[in-house]
Amino acid sequence: MTAAVVAATLLLLRDDPELGHLVDRRSLDAIARSIREPLPGVGWALDRVPWPLLRRAALGLERVVSPGFVAHYALRKHMIRERLLAAIEDGHRQVVLVGAGFDMLSASVPDEARVFEVDLPATQAAKRRAHDFGREIVFVPLDLTRDSLRAALLASPGFDPGRDTVFVAEGLLMYLERPSVEAILADMTELEGRVRLVASVVTPDRRGRVRLHTQRAVVDLCMRLLGERFRWGESPERLEETLAAYGLDLETVSSTAELCGEAKGKRARRPTGEVIVVASGRGRASAVDALAVDVTTTNATSGAPGGPTPLAETGSPA
Ligand SMILES: C[S@@+](CC[C@H](N)C(=O)[O-])C[C@H]1O[C@@H](n2cnc3c(N)ncnc32)[C@H](O)[C@@H]1O
Repeated sequence: MTAAVVAATLLLLRDDPELGHLVDRRSLDAIARSIREPLPGVGWALDRVPWPLLRRAALGLERVVSPGFVAHYALRKHMIRERLLAAIEDGHRQVVLVGAGFDMLSASVPDEARVFEVDLPATQAAKRRAHDFGREIVFVPLDLTRDSLRAALLASPGFDPGRDTVFVAEGLLMYLERPSVEAILADMTELEGRVRLVASVVTPDRRGRVRLHTQRAVVDLCMRLLGERFRWGESPERLEETLAAYGLDLETVSSTAELCGEAKGKRARRPTGEVIVVASGRGRASAVDALAVDVTTTNATSGAPGGPTPLAETGSPA
């Protein structure tokens, strides 16, 4: 439900003079089609209510329940797309969009990179029913609270664990409990090539609550009623330690409020507490292989006992 709601906010930007240039307008028709099934009321309104009126009502609602959300979301999308394209430029030619939702980020990925979209089966099925994707995408339906991301990717056609891979987790990790987040980090880094993570992370507010700092209590209530409340969030300092436990170096932490210059006007100036992080590392499977070679060589020459140190089970830092 929240995936459809956040995607629907992009429709408001189609003719937005301050923020419209931040979204990939080619994707908006596809988004409008795919949200009709999860949000039939929005589909009904799109067909019957004159667009200027509908847009004004939606932006009025935004100001009341979560001021600055539309601008934050547009800037978050823009920033993540830039970070993703930089990773591809840097040689990561395997792209895994984890919790892809109804977003059309895949449309921005150059053809030389392979794209995998991971999501809950129901979300993915609704998206796939709605339209044709203009490029090859491998869909990986799974529940990240129960299934292993790594196992699912290894079973997916064309996934190569030796390729440099960029994972995008936008608007996803906050919905999961910490053990699931750590299992995902472990799975991402148990590959053989270089790994880059581009993710949005919610930082706790002054009272330690994991929520967008700008949203009103009514949004907290709605998310709770929908069973889609935020569960995991972390300060940048603790995040650095968490990522390091999985061999990932935290490179950048950015607030969308930093991108004020990208948006014309004041709508982007409220920090929401959700930050965009980029972290990089080498797949730990390659380190284990190297260790195995070293130990074999050592054993062959010195006859010393022992073998490679096994990696910790998925879900625990090595
Ligand atoms: C708020 S949406 C964000 C979608 C998109 N990345 C964006 O930013 O517009 C959260 C996404 O995470 C997915 N998701 C939530 N829990 C999940 C789980 N346990 N396993 C797999 N995907 C999950 C939802 O289906 C949804 O697509």
